[in-house]
Amino acid sequence: MIAIGSDHGGFKLKEEIKKYLEEKGFEFKDFGTVSEERVDYPEIAKEVSKSVQTKETEFGILICKTGLGMSIVANKFKGIRCAVCHNENTAKYARLHNNANILALSGEELTTNDAICILRMWLATEFEGGRHQNRLNMIEEIEKENMK
Ligand code: RB5
Repeated sequence: MIAIGSDHGGFKLKEEIKKYLEEKGFEFKDFGTVSEERVDYPEIAKEVSKSVQTKETEFGILICKTGLGMSIVANKFKGIRCAVCHNENTAKYARLHNNANILALSGEELTTNDAICILRMWLATEFEGGRHQNRLNMIEEIEKENMK
């Protein structure tokens, strides 16, 4: 189960990604927004992040104009590793090395086809573990020190 959300800047791309997920038989929960009317991205990012954090959903997709605001909010949540990916290579390493659990995308910079290629790579790539797990453990320690 995938959590998906966008602000107005990512709305069109969110709808295209939903079509792709439907076609491929992935289940998703849409946290909005529902139109191109202006909304505040922190609200949407919060709901998607909570859903992934509580394991209601396995991972999330967040889209705003740049992907940046969404990722900044998502990374405030303990246990969330959100990566803004601009191409297949960054998507590959976000999964392989960072075990990222939220994919942030730019509605402005990416074509639908770019975004689908990024998502396909994301879905197909497993975390490598090993030395990268040690680094994730270090991130967890930092969270413990710095987050309530
Ligand atoms: C909205 O104008 C824009 O700031 C938002 O979509 C996002 O890109 C923020 O980082």
